[in-house]
Amino acid sequence: MSNYSIKSLEEYFQVYRKSVRDPETFWEEIAEEHFDWRRKWDSVLHWDFSKPEVKWFDGAQLNITENCLDRHLQIRGNKTAILFEPNDPKEEAEHITYRDLHERVCRMSNILKENGVNKGDRVCIYLPMIPELAITVLACARIGAIHSVVFAGFSSNALATRINDCDCKIVVTSDGSYRGAKTLDLKSIVDKALEECPQVSHVLVAKRTGQKVNMKRGRDQWLDSLMEQAYADFPAEIMDAEDPLFILYTSGSTGKPKGMVHSCGGYMVYTAYTFKNIFQYREDDIYWCTADIGWITGHSYIVYGPLANGATTVMFEGVPSYPDSGRFWEVVQKHKITQFYTAPTAIRALAKEKLDYVNSYDLSSLKVLGSVGEPINEEAWHWYNNNIGKGQSPVVDTWWQTETGGIMISPIPYVTPTTPTFATFPFIGIQPALMDDQGNEILGNQTQGKLCIKFPWPSMARTIWGDHERYKNTYFSAFDNCYFTGDGAFRDEVGYYRITGRVDDVIIVSGHNLGTAPIEDAINEHPAVAESAIVGYPHDVKGNALYGFITLKEVGESRDRDNLMKEINQKIAEQIGPIAKLEKILFVSGLPKTRSGKIMRRILRKIASNETENLGDISTLLNPEVVQEIMEAASAKQV
Ligand code: PRX
Repeated sequence: MSNYSIKSLEEYFQVYRKSVRDPETFWEEIAEEHFDWRRKWDSVLHWDFSKPEVKWFDGAQLNITENCLDRHLQIRGNKTAILFEPNDPKEEAEHITYRDLHERVCRMSNILKENGVNKGDRVCIYLPMIPELAITVLACARIGAIHSVVFAGFSSNALATRINDCDCKIVVTSDGSYRGAKTLDLKSIVDKALEECPQVSHVLVAKRTGQKVNMKRGRDQWLDSLMEQAYADFPAEIMDAEDPLFILYTSGSTGKPKGMVHSCGGYMVYTAYTFKNIFQYREDDIYWCTADIGWITGHSYIVYGPLANGATTVMFEGVPSYPDSGRFWEVVQKHKITQFYTAPTAIRALAKEKLDYVNSYDLSSLKVLGSVGEPINEEAWHWYNNNIGKGQSPVVDTWWQTETGGIMISPIPYVTPTTPTFATFPFIGIQPALMDDQGNEILGNQTQGKLCIKFPWPSMARTIWGDHERYKNTYFSAFDNCYFTGDGAFRDEVGYYRITGRVDDVIIVSGHNLGTAPIEDAINEHPAVAESAIVGYPHDVKGNALYGFITLKEVGESRDRDNLMKEINQKIAEQIGPIAKLEKILFVSGLPKTRSGKIMRRILRKIASNETENLGDISTLLNPEVVQEIMEAASAKQV
């Protein structure tokens, strides 16, 4: 028997050792015993990080939706697969059973097929958190099309860039979306984006808000009527384990977003196995992850991981503050949630509110609390642990990335003793390493370095869509024979890891990855702007917020500065989305630069964080005089 469910710390150590000593046998047993394959693999693992090339279960054939849906029909057909909790608490929750979900996914598969989508084609999904989102994702997987979900908070420009990068011919969207008290006009964002995407020939529109939208004849169709007519069965396409399952874009420190490509077999095995253990999922549990399916957390731990385990997974359309700050806890009580998985930024925002919002609800169903997306600070950890978990539900601080596909470093609840701010031990099969600046591995404990992973794991991204060279350069060139995460980490005396944050130009704001370069590009498009530099600084709710240092083309520019700030943020919202707006803007006469012309962000970071006592060596600067000016202007702004 394979060790599918780990129950004690000894067992964790024993299974971990096995997974590292003989990874192929280990993963082969897991894959063999817990999943349905149409054909078994010829080899478990083939890898070469120098190319880089990684293949898991090569030669195997499967369809992930047979594992997420069909195989549950006999035993769990009437069990709720997706529990949809709408934005408005007065609207009834919808229980979608495995049988219903299977049927709706089959109908959607037929619709996609009838609209010309074939195996290997890319489908852009731009939907709010309504059941159609999960259904479309699964329908793509069923017909072998590659889904590219774009978070429905992205702007039309960001959407167009993503549609064009992977050449989607079809977009699935909705008329509008509800977010708290707001109604957003999704269809018109799509219409605007499609002005830049002439190849898109079909748009399928789900009805959610009922608002009036433009339907372009010959291109746009209402999904609801198609669903009614569609045939309710569809034989799953047989996929190779290494065929792409989806593309998901993530920001890089430079240039355009990176379309991370995940493949079918390894991703299924790893997300299912981590889900089972890290949430200690049991058959009658009701699991809720508050993320949006537009992010990797939603892909792996709302859709695929839970459904592969036959779980009940909650899809929440709303926001934590609507109709009031008790909403999360009201939902926990209402559905008797057993595992709750959210982001530190939400915890920090709710911790600022009165405790009455928590204490009015019965949270005794909770068994496991999860955190993901950014470091969870000690105060937030304790608030979560004490007030939500009442000290009874372990907090699992899960570290991972869009690129890793699944959770990499995390406690296993009721197995690994938790410590605030530590993601603790690597998960089974994961071999982390800390590196120094010379590229050598730092051995031993009580040490800090750049976090790498030395050995492949089944759910790692295989490439960047259309740019394998960039994949190699970004992740496999900084250190020999290692995947570089872009994060720094500290390892304590027992071997627990604490993630210390990004070591590149990616800033995590409210759990969202934002590259500085695309934001600077957006700002520089404003006609008054000469140059800009964005840095992050600590923010008590968002974790980090963005600080923009901007020089204008005309010195002494007489325009209204407040207006200019608004226009600049407007530009950012248009190019990327409101999540990338700057919290603070400072207009300066110059940016600190090295003699080779590189902006010294280190100095700006210190100024933005108000840590100006020790700016380090500024003698190598081309223009040291601007540092004083920027410091004075920044401190005047703090007051
Ligand atoms: O810096 C790390 C941070 O989020 C980055 C990955 O972001 P993304 O690809 O959007 O995926 C987020 C959801 C998996 C990481 O490089 N991060 C994620 N989880 C944690 C974290 N930092 C500290 N602790 C975490 N638990």
